[in-house]
Amino acid sequence: MKNRMIQNIAVIGTGLMGCGIAQVFAGNKDLTVYTFDSILSKDQVLNKVSSNLNQLKEKKLISQKEIDDLINRIFPKDKMEDAVKDADFIVECIPENMELKQNMFRYIESLCPEDTIFATNTSVMSITEIAERTEKKSRIVGTHFWNPPYLIPLVEVVKSDYTSDEVMNTTYELLKKVNKSPVKVNKDVPGFLANRLQHALWREAISIVENGIADPATVDEAIKLSFGLRLPRLAPMENADMVGLDLTLSIHSYILKHLENSTEPSKLLREKVKNGELGFKSGKGFQQWTPAQIEESNKSLREYLIKVIYGR
Ligand SMILES: NC(=O)c1ccc[n+]([C@@H]2O[C@H](COP(=O)([O-])OP(=O)(O)OC[C@H]3O[C@@H](n4cnc5c(N)ncnc54)[C@H](O)[C@@H]3O)[C@@H](O)[C@H]2O)c1
Repeated sequence: MKNRMIQNIAVIGTGLMGCGIAQVFAGNKDLTVYTFDSILSKDQVLNKVSSNLNQLKEKKLISQKEIDDLINRIFPKDKMEDAVKDADFIVECIPENMELKQNMFRYIESLCPEDTIFATNTSVMSITEIAERTEKKSRIVGTHFWNPPYLIPLVEVVKSDYTSDEVMNTTYELLKKVNKSPVKVNKDVPGFLANRLQHALWREAISIVENGIADPATVDEAIKLSFGLRLPRLAPMENADMVGLDLTLSIHSYILKHLENSTEPSKLLREKVKNGELGFKSGKGFQQWTPAQIEESNKSLREYLIKVIYGR
């Protein structure tokens, strides 16, 4: 099957994720990126991208000329129509609200070419449901980027009940072209692939704290100093083969009935949110956070990712 030529990208909503996603596409000299945000100004968008790129420049991963060229391939527009009218591929990065996303896709259908691909960056919501109000549902696909999108390689390409194979393949190839590591998720299930895995671990971590087995810092330390350390080289499916499926069966036969299996958020989590203990946002969540600790946590994560991904 022949994949479609993609040249013009539109990014709708350029907050935390949209800015980084615009940056990813503009990193390829064959692509031109148009953006639209209902609140943010052109300068805010371009300044955010510049600030991301300057971190990479500090590590000598990009030159000033490459930054200037990349920024010159991004065109923030004042009207949605101007951003999408010539787009081959549109990525929606507006807030996580079903109605908002459904209405936006319904609206832009009348504004852009018939074969434009519509991608949604929803974190967990059904792509099939997001497509529900559009005429041509086969062109809608999930592209779940991870934060920060210009550093984390994975993008989950999610097939709805309607997405055509051509749209899946074109999207997959486009993401490879911009140096991402796409994976295809062939069924539209809540949380797609990686968030299902991630939140299975979070549910158990919160349960361990709630049941007084260990405090929050100890839970994180136990993960970071054990299987967390080897995860980038050895993930569960290969690990199970390595230790033997017979041993895995014995362990699961004994332990699974003791693991957290609640289908509701934990009582501890709900109480904390009710008390305004939101984490970094309020200075207290599962743990206390000073502004300096918050800054350090954000900075050290970015530096760690740059080191792992680029070796600097
Ligand atoms: N934050 C994350 O870590 C993360 C990770 C993966 C996926 N996502 C998903 O990406 C999407 C965007 O999340 P975010 O964190 O970037 O949100 P955000 O609030 O930072 O950005 C959303 C932007 O959309 C703009 N906007 C709102 N309504 C609009 C409209 N009708 N038209 C155009 N612009 C509009 C807002 O002004 C804002 O700048 C959500 O679906 C979210 O679930 C977020």
